[in-house]
Amino acid sequence: MTSTIALGGITRSYGPTRIIAPTSIDIASGQFVSLLGPSGCGKSTILSMIAGLDHPSTGEVTVNGRSAVVFQDHALLPWLSARGNIEFGLRSVHPSLSPLERRTIADRHLDLVGLGHAADRRPARLSGGMQQRVGIARAFAVEPEILLLDEPFGALDALTRRELQLQLLQLWEADRRTVVMVTHDVDEAILLSDRILVMSPSPDATVIADIAVDLPRPRSNVDPDPALRRELLGLLHS
Ligand SMILES: Nc1ncnc2c1ncn2[C@@H]1O[C@H](COP(=O)(O)OP(=O)(O)O)[C@@H](O)[C@H]1O
Ligand SMILES: [Mg+2]
Repeated sequence: MTSTIALGGITRSYGPTRIIAPTSIDIASGQFVSLLGPSGCGKSTILSMIAGLDHPSTGEVTVNGRSAVVFQDHALLPWLSARGNIEFGLRSVHPSLSPLERRTIADRHLDLVGLGHAADRRPARLSGGMQQRVGIARAFAVEPEILLLDEPFGALDALTRRELQLQLLQLWEADRRTVVMVTHDVDEAILLSDRILVMSPSPDATVIADIAVDLPRPRSNVDPDPALRRELLGLLHS
């Protein structure tokens, strides 16, 4: 297996408290992997390490390829339109693109997430779900090898959430980039992932289970796997 992402025996401490106990994770190129665990166990910390925004206290992080992050709170620039936000991301990652190329790529990705009609609107005039879609479009537009999603649908109502999960699946199935998604939602992890890494609570959190999800793709609406669901819930509450 060629690992795109390898965490070798990483730990993370804040003062005397070891949040993450020695943990190793290998992720192959093209896998959709979820990090599932209770709140506060260190999921975002691990994602930040993969993004290069945080560093382990001990151990090694190796990442082959450029990553883009989608956060829970979408973090759009309020003074730019939906299109402008995507163009802005493109300018910093691919400075050689012409303005016309940037605009074309931005509009194509807005279309892909169903927001072609809202390209000129600023974030204040977009619903939470629409803003999150812009965040996803912005991440895909820069064509990163690795997509890092930190509870990307956590702030949305159930219906919007399901809609965006399915849209993300469609986007992902088009070219199967490597994805690492943080979630505490068992059903979301099952619907989207090839593989689910379950974490124990902090302090001394670590990966306690590495579970392959063999449901056929393309996956559309939930064809739930009740046994897997029970297993995951059991692990989370153990
Ligand atoms: N800057 C910090 N200083 C001290 N503790 C922190 C800091 N950042 C995060 N933590 C602690 O590290 C733990 C893991 O945080 P986080 O990675 O955000 O968890 P998760 O994303 O799983 O909810 C939490 O218990 C949090 O309180
Ligand atoms: Mg978090």
